[in-house]
Amino acid sequence: MDKGKNYEVKDINLAEQGKKNIEWAEMQMGALLKVRDRFKKEKPLKGIKIGLALHVTKETAVLVKTLVAGGAQIAITGCNPLSTQDDIAAALAKEGINVWAYKGETKEDYYRYLTNVINFKPQITIDDGCDLVSEIHKKHQDLIKNIIGGAEETTTGVIRLRAMEKDKALRYPIIAVNDSKTKHLMDNLKGTGQSTMDGILRATNVLFAGKNFVICGYGECGKGVAKRAQGMDSNVIITEVDPFKGLQAAMDGFRVMPIKDAAKIGDIFVTVTGNKNIIDIEHMKLMKDGVLLANSGHFDAEININDLKKIAKSKRNIRPFMDEYTLDDGKRIFILGEARLINLAAAEGHPSTIMAMSFINQSFACEYLVKNKGKLEPKVYVLPKEKDDEIARLQLEAMGIKIDTMTPEQKKYIESWEEGT
Ligand SMILES: NC(=O)c1ccc[n+]([C@@H]2O[C@H](COP(=O)([O-])OP(=O)(O)OC[C@H]3O[C@@H](n4cnc5c(N)ncnc54)[C@H](O)[C@@H]3O)[C@@H](O)[C@H]2O)c1
Repeated sequence: MDKGKNYEVKDINLAEQGKKNIEWAEMQMGALLKVRDRFKKEKPLKGIKIGLALHVTKETAVLVKTLVAGGAQIAITGCNPLSTQDDIAAALAKEGINVWAYKGETKEDYYRYLTNVINFKPQITIDDGCDLVSEIHKKHQDLIKNIIGGAEETTTGVIRLRAMEKDKALRYPIIAVNDSKTKHLMDNLKGTGQSTMDGILRATNVLFAGKNFVICGYGECGKGVAKRAQGMDSNVIITEVDPFKGLQAAMDGFRVMPIKDAAKIGDIFVTVTGNKNIIDIEHMKLMKDGVLLANSGHFDAEININDLKKIAKSKRNIRPFMDEYTLDDGKRIFILGEARLINLAAAEGHPSTIMAMSFINQSFACEYLVKNKGKLEPKVYVLPKEKDDEIARLQLEAMGIKIDTMTPEQKKYIESWEEGT
């Protein structure tokens, strides 16, 4: 481990590689770079301290540089023990950013680093999974009076925050970045769809064609994974608890069944529910020999790996991000990426283009919080529709795509009720 006054990273000598990877990400994040250019001129975040707990990836580094261009001071740590890209952490440290993160963090280091970010006394928090907000509310309430607000990246974090709001426990306003269309209908759907397959392939290099590919959860992430598994010629099976989502999956042409039935026939399983013990020991006992289990939901709670560790006769690491557990009857179950987000553990997370949209949302959320300082209640907010539309326009522009504008006649027609057949 390399330690400096304002950093703790795996190997500071990886900085040069990190810098090249950040440049590669920037080439695909033109829409975010446009925002960076404006931030450079307008400095909307001048003097604002922002604390981040995000996956420390090349795309996140592009966000960090955008916030810095806007005038912010930054302290960052990871939001998952396995998702940090060590070269990126080193590059950020070399640029003078406060950064504490490495791939394979112990639980102790994970929380120590969160505390480092909290001790930076952020006025804005950016979270992916709500751990930063949760730690501040549990242990550092004295800091809350100086916090303008926060922004949350993912579905699981937003669920936790809405639970806090309902319990009247939330003490400062949060922008649910996840809930913008340009976030969850892009990042969760297209990003998780592609990067989950990438993670499974890098960990295993298995053939998808002809396999029974079970996806637990048919939300935005599940839909993305299902479509890609289908495109790679797997027989896709969906498990759900929500009747409409179950119906949607069936109408999209997938087989839908309870996990108990899917467990008996599946070859590859992916959980993307944001819920707990979706694949439990009772299901593992029903599975075939040699099944692959992966999770792409936020926390490592979706596959009951804790109980698997207790009942397994033996465990071997076969290759990076692939552990073999053998049960008493000799059956082998392969757990990928320690049941943590497979796309970030075994691969590199979402492609940069997708993250450009997610991170414009984060940049706009910070700007919005500063502009509305003192005016927002301690609630969970969504960015205004105009901002979401602006992000879509910026991305279309970056892709060189033009769309039409309504004529005044069309605008009048669409807004009126008098005109009929
Ligand atoms: N891997 C990534 O990079 C990445 C990216 C975005 C979101 N996420 C995470 O993925 C998870 C899913 O996100 P989402 O946006 O798709 O959420 P979502 O709410 O749109 O979908 C989750 C679905 O899971 C279903 N579900 C809940 N309990 C279930 C159960 N017991 N069995 C079967 N289905 C069940 C729900 O009914 C829902 O349809 C969250 O934890 C989110 O934070 C991960």
